[in-house]
Amino acid sequence: MNLKSLAIAAVACLSSAASAAPAATSKVELKPAADAPIIKKEIYGQFAEHLGRCIYGGLWVGPESGIPNTQGYRTDVLNALRELHVPVLRWPGGCFADEYHWMDGIGPREKRPLMVNSNWGGTVEDNSFGTNEFFNFCELLGCEPYLSGNVGSGTVEELAKWVEYITAENGPMAELRKSNGREKPWKLKYLGVGNESWGCGGNFTADFYANVYRRYQTYCRDFDGNKLYKIASGANAGDYNWTEVLMRDAMHHFNAVSLHYYSVGDWSSKGSATKFDASDYYTTLALCLEMETLVKRHSEIMDRFDPSITKGLMVDEWGTWWEVEPGTNPGHLFQQNTMRDAIVAALTLNIFHENAARVHMANIAQIANVLQAMVLTKDAEMVLTPTYYLFKMYVPHMDARLVPLSVATASRAVEGRKDVPAISATCSEKDGVYTVSLTNTSLDNSEKVTVDLAGLGLGLAGGEVLTAASVNDYNDFGQPEKVTLKPFSGARIAKGTLSVDMPAMSVVTLTLK
Ligand code: AHR
Repeated sequence: MNLKSLAIAAVACLSSAASAAPAATSKVELKPAADAPIIKKEIYGQFAEHLGRCIYGGLWVGPESGIPNTQGYRTDVLNALRELHVPVLRWPGGCFADEYHWMDGIGPREKRPLMVNSNWGGTVEDNSFGTNEFFNFCELLGCEPYLSGNVGSGTVEELAKWVEYITAENGPMAELRKSNGREKPWKLKYLGVGNESWGCGGNFTADFYANVYRRYQTYCRDFDGNKLYKIASGANAGDYNWTEVLMRDAMHHFNAVSLHYYSVGDWSSKGSATKFDASDYYTTLALCLEMETLVKRHSEIMDRFDPSITKGLMVDEWGTWWEVEPGTNPGHLFQQNTMRDAIVAALTLNIFHENAARVHMANIAQIANVLQAMVLTKDAEMVLTPTYYLFKMYVPHMDARLVPLSVATASRAVEGRKDVPAISATCSEKDGVYTVSLTNTSLDNSEKVTVDLAGLGLGLAGGEVLTAASVNDYNDFGQPEKVTLKPFSGARIAKGTLSVDMPAMSVVTLTLK
């Protein structure tokens, strides 16, 4: 929990790390606890929707493409994503999922029917990336597939047969799969039953959806040793009634319920991804910190029905959402990604860590070319975003045990919103290796952070920093990366205390053992 010690007036001008003001001081205390939760690696999940150039051009170019590919998947993107150890990938949407008819996406690609992607710019979808392409991609990437089933415009039979096609050893759907070149069934664990069923997924009321959910999931069977983990379509941000009703009426039929939240203040004017001032920056951080309230309040409801925490809360869509890059299709949600986005990711992941007992999965939106992406592509070029590097830096936290901690730091008041702490911290331990990640949110102030290591007798084994000359910096095509990971040398340990000189606007991860 962060202790507020001082409010700092908001500043109105942009800053750079080079013009940092004298260092302020923050204190972190580690409080290791043997019964602290494991930070499930699925918190680092990704999401790929048939939207803009996420799938087509982002992940998939087809085997005939001149762009270097591995069985049709971009080799550069595949290799970059492997570095992130992506644990789980949600597909095919999003809003697209509730208009997707999976049988259109199997069989010879040239014979697949076309459809209009009416959610996302009216683009004509040729269905060349379908079930086989998705499951093969997950195998190449080494991640769990997470299927989002069509409830809004699909039938119970259609969803039931999809599960059968993917997971059954024998029977008509298995034969169909075999005729499409895949002899052995795939494993399917995560099955979402609808997406945003309160909105684009059917505009259901909570009570109505709870009943529809019960019906659809009944016919999604466990074939031949496959065990489905069923996820009910959850609340839109602060719609607590939705969670209440689902827990009350459907909890015995699901393993988890989802939650969607984007760090957006005004949907009619979301702002530019790259052109923003200090006030916009701190407002965005305050908005992303709303995730803490949302997770806690939805968890409190779940705790009443499920005190021993057998059900997960899956934040299967989160991240920043800006106006699209000028000149791009407004329906394709292509946005740039700056140091601000990386700091949003750090603060949000820290919240998921702290709430790891209940948050069992999270999926940032989205993996490529859409919203807060890991990678951006243009023809044969690819850039890695600041958010990519943040995810890479946080890999050691995956499946590690949370080390609870307290932080005493200044906080910045943001009018009408949550205060933004100067320093946000998280720590985890795996196999005796401790990973401490610190974020300095200040655009202007470097910060001296001391971390009381609780007598653990740890030594410093390495460190990395993510920062930029300006918070507006981003990585773009055809130029060297401006925002990237660098070795960090501003930390030392003396008498059981770690001291860290945090540059302004930076994220530092330290390895201790
Ligand atoms: O991620 C973009 C869209 O945001 C998804 O399709 C939808 O579920 C959400 O509203």
